[in-house]
Amino acid sequence: MRIGILTSGGDCPGLNAVLRGFCKYCFNRIKDVEIYGFLEGYAGLINKDYKVLAPADVENILDLGGTILGTSRQPYKLMTVKEGDAPTKLQQMVENYKKLKLDVLVTLGGAGTHKTASLLSVEGCNVIGLPKTIDNDIYGTDITFGFHTAVDIAADALKRIRTTADSHSRVFFVEVMGNKVGWLTLYSGIAAGADIILIPEINYDEEKLAQYIINKKASGARSVVVAVAEGVCSTREAAMSKKERRDYIDECGNASVAERLCEVMAQKTGLACRSTVLGHIQRGGEPCAYDKFISTEIGAYGAYLAETGKYGVTVCVRGNKLSYSVLVDIAGRTKRVPVDGQQIGLAKAAGVYFGD
Ligand code: F6P
Repeated sequence: MRIGILTSGGDCPGLNAVLRGFCKYCFNRIKDVEIYGFLEGYAGLINKDYKVLAPADVENILDLGGTILGTSRQPYKLMTVKEGDAPTKLQQMVENYKKLKLDVLVTLGGAGTHKTASLLSVEGCNVIGLPKTIDNDIYGTDITFGFHTAVDIAADALKRIRTTADSHSRVFFVEVMGNKVGWLTLYSGIAAGADIILIPEINYDEEKLAQYIINKKASGARSVVVAVAEGVCSTREAAMSKKERRDYIDECGNASVAERLCEVMAQKTGLACRSTVLGHIQRGGEPCAYDKFISTEIGAYGAYLAETGKYGVTVCVRGNKLSYSVLVDIAGRTKRVPVDGQQIGLAKAAGVYFGD
């Protein structure tokens, strides 16, 4: 059996653990298996740039952050763009899949990766997706690998901010990754006891937010810690056209969301405010124990699907079980935090303010 495998899109802790789990299953269970590890994500398949993986390649990588195969972002919308007489990237990938006589291609990736995987599947390639991302936004799965490690990192950072915020009696805006969804901010914010959690699914009201912060301080709180998702939007910003919003961000010197919010709130509350952006530290380093566990399981289950010829699917975790969704059903869909769901409801009941 000839298997192609690649890691694509933004990296996350657990990619190597999945590769290891997948390859170990294959080497242990599948006769005459050959595994082609494409380098730098879909770029490796486009350019036929690969390394044949041997058992030694996946030894001692369970704890290792990043990806031994390298990754890159290959925008989905460019996959079918024609440039002159050259074949599209999609056509090149299909051609290389055939040239290498692959039986299946396994893609470790997030939302964008899954959209391209679905395209390849529609083009007749046998594809299996494995759900990666610290954003936890892949439709149809409770959990993506990498998410829990990022939650631990962000929660730890938020806790550390609390002590310095307390010392100086400050209001702190901590920017957590998550451009479209707020899972990471929600989980880490709750885990770290943040006072306020702002997520892209809920537009916050600047006046209400400022008043809440003022009241909180007036009630005796030494500090106020606000966990802010990268993609949050105020009701004022939400009412702007795309161009108005771009101009506004330009005027603010392209400051990050947390910096802009910090500036606005400092003016409105008159309190000592500071901001910090956690950034890519949330994606680096060793996976947490849960991610090592789930990544190994996801890798091994993906290999089982390959062995049994279950193609055109992506692995998902539902409840406590590994299962799969059909690729074309989940591609292009986003799992957002349900605004009226239990998690937000209980967090509100436990005293968290969401800016609405
Ligand atoms: O999709 C994962 C993610 O970390 C998002 O949370 C974030 O918006 C984005 O990737 C950052 O991408 P890049 O690494 O390309 O700057």
